[in-house]
Amino acid sequence: MKCKKCGAKASVNMRQHKLALCKEHYLEWVPEQTARFIKKYEMFTHYEKILVAVSGGKDSLGLWDILVRLGYQADGLYLGLGIDEGINYSHESQRLAQKYADEHQLKLHVVDIEKEYGQPIPVLADKSHRGYGKPCAVCGLAKRHEMNRIARDLGYDVLATGHNLDDEAAVLFGNTLAWASEFLLRQGPVLPSADGLARKVKPLCRFYEREMTAYCLARGIEYIYEECPFAEGSQSIYYKELLNQLETARPGAKLTFYLRFLEARKSGELFIENNVERAHLHPCSRCGQPTSAPDICSFCRMIEKVNAVTES
Ligand code: AMP
Ligand code: FES
Ligand code: ZN
Ligand code: ZN
Repeated sequence: MKCKKCGAKASVNMRQHKLALCKEHYLEWVPEQTARFIKKYEMFTHYEKILVAVSGGKDSLGLWDILVRLGYQADGLYLGLGIDEGINYSHESQRLAQKYADEHQLKLHVVDIEKEYGQPIPVLADKSHRGYGKPCAVCGLAKRHEMNRIARDLGYDVLATGHNLDDEAAVLFGNTLAWASEFLLRQGPVLPSADGLARKVKPLCRFYEREMTAYCLARGIEYIYEECPFAEGSQSIYYKELLNQLETARPGAKLTFYLRFLEARKSGELFIENNVERAHLHPCSRCGQPTSAPDICSFCRMIEKVNAVTES
């Protein structure tokens, strides 16, 4: 297989785009495509300050690399979750995020959940009785809360995450199976800022996971290969496997599934559109972040419960 641009030996073949590229042209193509998506979905401009949520994995480190190369003002945020299972997952992922920042003289904010709230994520999950031995839901809640808090407190215009097409297609698949209308309406490459919520963007939403792996390998970015040890057996991994089977039989199916959804959503063709009432948001009386719960937000409620258990 030959590179479409220069005829040299191709190192990446993208069947869904009917495109093969050599390493050099692949390293140009990925940032060019990202710039196109940022513009198309009106994610942010060169005048805005971006906070990239960096987990130490290939997607978020790849994203940070691309944004900086495209000349955006992008700082990193690493959240220390205190997951020491497996290969000491949190320690290793923080080391790699910090290594990338140091090697490229970039600013990485590090926020440690245990230092902020007294306990690491697995203990918060156990003590709040919201997932004994399975802390993913509490982890997601804490990540959303902390990312928004820090973006807001430090004056960033936008928060960028490394979600790729495989992530987005799996979430879309799950939401479609459940006809989860409110989630379907909110799922897109950009979630505008509202009532104390930072704008959230996913510039890699059209890249396959394997394309981001290829980008990091070609660029020589060292990232954590392991998934979070708690992700094993999760629903999202199961959906990803199902969609990969579909993709093998019909190359491009995953991308079409996602892009057709975005088109339908934009043009109002999703028949759920008019039936969804948006929850009314007001500031949480503890942390000030917007919530639809009556008094305090679900994150603060979870912390309150943990504190009550710890003190008793
Ligand atoms: P995940 O929820 O693990 O699939 O990760 C989705 C995105 O959330 C990643 O691409 C990162 O942008 C962000 N993220 C996940 N974990 C962390 C973390 N510990 N610190 C900062 N950002 C994170
Ligand atoms: Fe949060 Fe796995 S439980 S990353
Ligand atoms: Zn080439
Ligand atoms: Zn709160």
